[in-house]
Amino acid sequence: MTIKSLIRTIPDYPKPGVQFRDITTLLKDADGLRQVVDALVERYADANIDKVVGIESRGFIVGAAVAYKLGVGFVPVRKKGKLPGDVLGHDYALEYGTDRVEIHSDAICPDETVLLLDDLIATGGTAEAAAVLIEKLGGQVLECAFIVGLPDLGGQQRLQALGYKTFTLCEFE
Ligand code: PRP
Ligand code: ADE
Repeated sequence: MTIKSLIRTIPDYPKPGVQFRDITTLLKDADGLRQVVDALVERYADANIDKVVGIESRGFIVGAAVAYKLGVGFVPVRKKGKLPGDVLGHDYALEYGTDRVEIHSDAICPDETVLLLDDLIATGGTAEAAAVLIEKLGGQVLECAFIVGLPDLGGQQRLQALGYKTFTLCEFE
């Protein structure tokens, strides 16, 4: 089965009008999980990535697997108040609310090449906030990659307008 066909849509979650693209049905499928990790590892195998940054919480799952297979370290970008050390933070707007993400101040070294990974891009606010944090630490964002893109919400265009490259494994209109 394709990656897209393994993703379940839950209407009106967590708010009326939102079509929630649920990747748990993809993750529980051994071949689906392998397809996702293998496609991303193949894309970035020769890119000289230094770190993979994954965004809480669904971005941790695929981000850690891809980092392991690429043989590089994994860095979590977390919601506010979850990281124990010195952090840098950035506020952003969601499709359904607002939040703040943080990264440990010592997580990225200057000039490291970073792959930013998350499960899904909607408005792009979360990924933009994470990319800003990576750059504030001196990292270079090679690309922002997602399992799912929701092009109607404009996130990919927003990141591209800011100069970031984006990649998605599937899209839902
Ligand atoms: C979801 C998703 C992305 C973000 C995308 O995370 O996993 O991180 O929203 O939205 P955006 O492009 O409009 O910023 P959520 O904040 O729901 O957290 P979760 O992964 O912990 O469920
Ligand atoms: N995060 C933001 N919008 C989403 C959606 N429509 N489905 C799943 N996760 C999301």
